[in-house]
Amino acid sequence: MSETIDSLLTESRKFPPPPEFAAAANASDPGIYGEADSDWQGWWTGWAEKLDWFSKWETVCVWDQPFSQWFVGGKVNACHNAVDRHVLRGNGGKTAWIAEGEPGDIRVFTYADVHREVQKVANALKALGIGKGDRVCIYMGQGPELCLAMLACARIGAIHSVIFGGFSAKSICERANDAQAKAIVTADGLWRRGKVIGLKKIVDEALEMGCPTVEKVLVHQRVGAGGPEQSNWKEGRDIRWGEAVDPQPADCPCEPMDSEDVLFILYTSGSTGKPKGIVHTTGGYLTGTMATSKLVFDYKDSDVYWCTADCGWITGHSYVVYGPMCNGVTQILYEGAPDTPDKDRFWRIVERHRATILYTAPTAIRTFMKWGEEFPQRCDLGSLRLLGSVGEPINPEAWIWYHEFIGGGRCPIVDTWWQTETGAIMITPLPGITVTKPGSAGRPFPGVSASIYNEAGDDLLATHGAPVGGFLVLKRPWPSMLRGIWGDNERYRQVYWSKFSDAYFAGDGAKVDADGDFWLLGRVDDIMLVSGHNISTMEVESALVDHHAVAESAVIGKAHEIKGQSVAAFVILKSHVEASDTLNMELRAHVAEKIGSLARPDDLYFTADLPKTRSGKIMRRLLRDIAEGRVLGDVTTLADPAVVAALKEQHDEKEG
Ligand code: WT7
Repeated sequence: MSETIDSLLTESRKFPPPPEFAAAANASDPGIYGEADSDWQGWWTGWAEKLDWFSKWETVCVWDQPFSQWFVGGKVNACHNAVDRHVLRGNGGKTAWIAEGEPGDIRVFTYADVHREVQKVANALKALGIGKGDRVCIYMGQGPELCLAMLACARIGAIHSVIFGGFSAKSICERANDAQAKAIVTADGLWRRGKVIGLKKIVDEALEMGCPTVEKVLVHQRVGAGGPEQSNWKEGRDIRWGEAVDPQPADCPCEPMDSEDVLFILYTSGSTGKPKGIVHTTGGYLTGTMATSKLVFDYKDSDVYWCTADCGWITGHSYVVYGPMCNGVTQILYEGAPDTPDKDRFWRIVERHRATILYTAPTAIRTFMKWGEEFPQRCDLGSLRLLGSVGEPINPEAWIWYHEFIGGGRCPIVDTWWQTETGAIMITPLPGITVTKPGSAGRPFPGVSASIYNEAGDDLLATHGAPVGGFLVLKRPWPSMLRGIWGDNERYRQVYWSKFSDAYFAGDGAKVDADGDFWLLGRVDDIMLVSGHNISTMEVESALVDHHAVAESAVIGKAHEIKGQSVAAFVILKSHVEASDTLNMELRAHVAEKIGSLARPDDLYFTADLPKTRSGKIMRRLLRDIAEGRVLGDVTTLADPAVVAALKEQHDEKEG
């Protein structure tokens, strides 16, 4: 960690907001920080009042640490706020989605179109027996139907649990069972790099593993040939989208939900293996996502906004569906890969639809850097006025490249720090106010209280002031905070509220500089951040050990130029098994099959033993040193120092 701090200290470039941008910005008065801080409940109330409520709340916030409730007693519906109210106010003709499929098909939906379609989907779900409080898994590629399925659930009060379309059958099965899902909404397939990924077949496999609560599978026909007919179609259980949705009337009233009713569950990897079902409720979540998107992305009526995240992740929930749509924005949805048919695809999309705001991840930016500026330079990116980044720390080189080659030197960059758990952006520049610095996420959003603690739980920022580094915590409740882990409140306490007695522990390290700007330093525990996605080392280890040839394994995240981190695995084989290149490949494929290809180890080393402390804890720090080819750190606490020497030799041989 000290290394990162050192290198950050050398970053001194500053980018004040361009004056024309600041003059027109939704937030231009720095005074809002102080105002929000002195009356944070009042600040959030002001935002909640911008939503439509069926009936008003009685209490703004009930804080019974670690459980918060917001706008208690209020009645509200997320779909109404994202869709209906724009139509009711005469803005039905405004474009909601410009949806581009990977093969190049383009579909445009106005808010009135979404309003009509979502009611039909909602009625179809009802006809399948789904009602308020039922859980529905959604496993689809990015596109209008995925968003419609989410909004339709919200409309009738069903709880959606979106599962990223790259996840495996086992992941679906695990998530469907944890949430006791009644139905799965999926598609015959999705397009990825010119090929079809057969989603329905993967759902079939998941159901064969045993998901006793799943009664219905609704299948959107996205790819046609190679679709449902070739999967294991079960009449009675499986229903085609066209047959279920098309005949429905476009008339389905929004269910008045309690502000604290669950809107969705989203599973995220945990350090102890089993994914955690992060629970978000309705009124506070909408308030937080609407407020942050309005001020951070500075939406104007004329904007064409593009968040490249898939709805399988929290970014797609908060900054594709709920935040932007509550603001009535026009946005781009893109289904596929950034290099299909060529490495300029993103820039073609920006040019074609005149995108004004782009929100993407550092892992993508580093990939574009590697491909070279010739690709963005082929296109007219002059429509862009604001750029965003999320998912992991953005290294200053990538920031500068993004600023210069995508933003043409004129667009502010908002580097937004937040988590699945926080629901909305927590630390971020405000583009009309903040003097940005490459690599810094700026300050806590107005109303949010972030600080830096040490191991002992002292508030270093409050007592010593900046500059200071340590554990990032959030000190007061915020409306979009997670309400717990589905079915496991004890785990919720333990994961987020046991390290410190009086603050939410985010699991990240951070530094605050003398100006009060935050610099994120990554996860402090053993979660890997691969291409912007959290993968638990523990889950990959379990997948490896699940293979009959493997006795034990240790997995680490290794620094990777493009992905941020890549997975490296150290494997001890069972005694009768011979190590071979074939087995090496087989084990890596096994991980991909068990938990998804994101988790496939790039490097896999066979070893006779693992470096452990005397108490038997694997020393990941040493494994990281080995995998990254560094001189070995302190080995004095090792049970058997010969183990690392042998591993290091193997690594050096491989790298030449
Ligand atoms: C973790 C949360 C929030 C949506 C995407 C990831 C890392 C996220 C930043 C940023 C540095 C960041 C943190 C965080 N992270 N944004 N701007 N700078 N790190 O959501 O999967 O819940 O992961 O992503 O480590 O804790 P997630």
